[in-house]
Amino acid sequence: MSGVRRPDRTSSIMNAKLEAQDIRLEYVQPRTNTRLVALDGIDLKIMDGEFVSIVGPSGCGKTTFLSVVDGLIGASAGRILVDGRMVTKPGPDRAVVFQDASLLPWRTVLNNVRYGLECLNVGAREAKERASHFIEMVGLSGFEHHYPYELSGGMQQRVNLARALVMDPKILLMDEPFASLDAQTREVMQEELLQIWVKAKKTVLFVTHQIDEAIYLSDRVVVFSGRPGKVKETIAVAIERPRRLAVKREARFHAIEDRIWSLIEEDVKADRNRRNVDRSDRSF
Ligand SMILES: Nc1ncnc2c1ncn2[C@@H]1O[C@H](COP(=O)(O)OP(=O)(O)OP(=O)(O)O)[C@@H](O)[C@H]1O
Ligand SMILES: [Mg+2]
Repeated sequence: MSGVRRPDRTSSIMNAKLEAQDIRLEYVQPRTNTRLVALDGIDLKIMDGEFVSIVGPSGCGKTTFLSVVDGLIGASAGRILVDGRMVTKPGPDRAVVFQDASLLPWRTVLNNVRYGLECLNVGAREAKERASHFIEMVGLSGFEHHYPYELSGGMQQRVNLARALVMDPKILLMDEPFASLDAQTREVMQEELLQIWVKAKKTVLFVTHQIDEAIYLSDRVVVFSGRPGKVKETIAVAIERPRRLAVKREARFHAIEDRIWSLIEEDVKADRNRRNVDRSDRSF
């Protein structure tokens, strides 16, 4: 060993907050003693402060990919870099928001939001201040002392978001966070998420089954192919911000929607045929 470090491959990448390099993930299925390739050769680079969504047919590996980025699952090959440094396990620089709010039912909103800070031994006063700040940011001031069962689904999902934001992660990983909400609440949440994203200045990687949601929120939409998940194409959303919900009705929005739908239609239809589900809309 010469002791001279070769320049890291990432050193030439300015401001890449998150990078996936050639990620492959194989699940070992002990019941059948077989291997299932969930992800294969995924390269993805996300810049600081960027909002990127992933869409693709069910089972193409979106949740698996977020778990690899979070470090919950180790990649079979390839590596994940945050700020150019390789990550192998979950860390405070990344936070995950899942489809279900999974709040602690015996804790109030305030105590749910400050739970993670308690685990880090942050002092009670500071924890309360930080939690209150993010409760306000997600529009839940006045509900600090309510229990989860006293909240609507949308409100619970806001608490969930505050719980992730209070830890001050650099990167928010969101896995269909609004999937269980009704259509109107979902749109309200999309608008609010964008406002929060602007205020909190986070880098977001967002998974959804709804193409319009992906376009409305994102700077870029990454389309995964059917299993094994690969990046089929990345579409830039050249629509100025701030965005109002009405932009979803504009022709330029529909043009991007059509483009993304055409990319995934074949894979989704194949998947739908397998699952025999409703084919009337463009969520999948
Ligand atoms: N723990 C596991 N063990 C074995 N196989 C798994 C495991 N988790 C997921 N898989 C398989 O990996 C593939 C990708 O699953 P994943 O949940 O990542 O897909 P997805 O794109 O998130 O799907 P959906 O859109 O339905 O949420 C699927 O074929 C699934 O059956
Ligand atoms: Mg999933």
